Amino acid sequence: MRIHINAPDRTCDFDSKERESILFAGLRNGIELPYECATGTCGTCKARLIEGRLSDPWADAPGKKMLKADQGEFLMCQCVASGEVAVQVAMAIPAKAAGAAAAGPMTGLLTGLRHLTHDVAAFEVQLDTHCKFEAGQFVTIAALGVTGRRSYSMVNFESRAQHFEFVIKKKPGGGFSEWLFGGQAEGTRLEIFGPLGKATFEPGLAKNILCIAGGSGIAGMMSILARACQASYFGRHQGHVFFGVRTMRDAFYLDELSGYCELAGPGLSVTIALSDEDVPLEAPARHPRLRFERGLVHEVARRSMAGKFQDTRAYVAGPPPAVTAALRVLLVDGKLSPANIRYDKFS
Ligand code: FES
Repeated sequence: MRIHINAPDRTCDFDSKERESILFAGLRNGIELPYECATGTCGTCKARLIEGRLSDPWADAPGKKMLKADQGEFLMCQCVASGEVAVQVAMAIPAKAAGAAAAGPMTGLLTGLRHLTHDVAAFEVQLDTHCKFEAGQFVTIAALGVTGRRSYSMVNFESRAQHFEFVIKKKPGGGFSEWLFGGQAEGTRLEIFGPLGKATFEPGLAKNILCIAGGSGIAGMMSILARACQASYFGRHQGHVFFGVRTMRDAFYLDELSGYCELAGPGLSVTIALSDEDVPLEAPARHPRLRFERGLVHEVARRSMAGKFQDTRAYVAGPPPAVTAALRVLLVDGKLSPANIRYDKFS
């Protein structure tokens, strides 16, 4: 199907495949169409249909709240062209950055499912090919028999990865998480699209980095730490990681975070923020390389970072209220410019 895009700064044309959304077709062809979640929730990919017909597989996509349906608006991450279409996009379409990883479809086998806490699990996908991605990026995943796609950040970092590692939080009623925690998922073949997302880290950044994560939002930060430690980044720049959980029962990756602290030396500090309990006496003894504090993660970060925000790039991930609160701290207290605050809205 031929897709014609009109944007304020340019026009472009590309072909989409059978059952391929307009967003994925554009990204696969190197056209940086606007998006954030890529799974129908945020509304960022909205566009207006000028000519042609679309099929829309998800009638209740939450991102539709942002649309003016009477003006022909639709979500590019959901809708599939039924023949040739012309589409108006409100935002300018930036040129693809030189050397940026190209997004595209992949397949792989789900393996290595293991529980990290009572309601958080990790799983791996062995890819049928290799994938180049940047630390902090995510992919969308679909499994046969499970409705819709879900987005997950890669935990690992390799320049030509043949496997991905992910973290998933159990959500009661959540189709993908119920399926994954149900015990039948191991060995399932998955359809993947990516890599996606702009909350990326490259060592050429040459700034201090600040990561504020709530719960499973730590996934992309782990990839950033892996990338930074591979490049001995914390010998030249400071790294501050704040990982918010309710209680110690909800904490995970503490051994891995301790390992990064050991590798990085004094340039990296990792603080675990406990929102719902005082720090148990045994926690610092068990994890001597980590710091522990009582409080909401954005509040702990605000206190600890006072006077240390200069020359910093911040990364934020987690449940939407935690992300919103962290962004306020970074803008108001840290006075960071929006260009130095990176997050992807796909919760
Ligand atoms: Fe399409 Fe978020 S709703 S990118």
